[in-house]
Amino acid sequence: MELTRAQRSGPRTAVVWAALRREIERQGGRPLTVLDVGGGTGGFAVPLAEDGHRVTVVDASPDALAALTRRAAEAGVADRVQAVQGDGDALAGLVEPGAADLVLCHAVLEVVDDPAGVVAAVTAALRPGGAASVLVAGKAAAVLSRAVNGNLAGAAALLADRHGCAGPRDTLRRRYDADTAVALLRAAGLDVSEIHGVRVLADLLPAAVADGDPQAVVDLELAAAAHPPYRDIAAQLHLFARRPSS
Ligand SMILES: C[S@@+](CC[C@H](N)C(=O)[O-])C[C@H]1O[C@@H](n2cnc3c(N)ncnc32)[C@H](O)[C@@H]1O
Repeated sequence: MELTRAQRSGPRTAVVWAALRREIERQGGRPLTVLDVGGGTGGFAVPLAEDGHRVTVVDASPDALAALTRRAAEAGVADRVQAVQGDGDALAGLVEPGAADLVLCHAVLEVVDDPAGVVAAVTAALRPGGAASVLVAGKAAAVLSRAVNGNLAGAAALLADRHGCAGPRDTLRRRYDADTAVALLRAAGLDVSEIHGVRVLADLLPAAVADGDPQAVVDLELAAAAHPPYRDIAAQLHLFARRPSS
């Protein structure tokens, strides 16, 4: 049987796809109603639609949504992908409450005005028992990468800032560690079931190593992802959480 794009994921997304596949199997392999908040050009939405799920992408960028629409059409899944332009901070007014089996919120909480408000809206969009896949930038990795690249002032500023922002020129407004990310989700009433590091090693390897044996890199990422301290120095943290059933 031909592998779907989701199954052929590379080292930068393998850990996330593994968690999504577990959830899809947990929900019986049936087509899910998926909401992708800040889903951009459809890197997750289109492969999920290819696997038979119905995906609504809410994103602030019309350009990203245009690319998503083209990508979905090229993949033959336009009928299963809905693009909605809007602000994640105003999610509650854009999507039906309590209807999603699965909500993705990947690489978005770092940039929005009100991350707690977005997570509360993500929770409200889920049906009871539905799952949230949340991917956030890791603070420790950002400190380490600045330091090893010689930007000691940037590393120190980021380390000292309680939001994990290196200053006004930083492209991200905040970064997380496992504790702060878990606290954010719990405050919105979600039960956090899994935390994994994403890109624990993939960004650190010489290109020749990564290109030479990509499957070995995927295997190493999957092996290291759940284990502190490797998990905690990953470029991103992936949290899987559930809206309580009652
Ligand atoms: C780094 S990209 C991540 C895209 C996708 N989630 C992924 O993981 O590949 C961030 C996306 O969030 C969108 N975005 C940024 N601020 C937003 C906001 N306030 N509301 C909704 N989307 C937003 C951007 O347009 C962009 O598509």
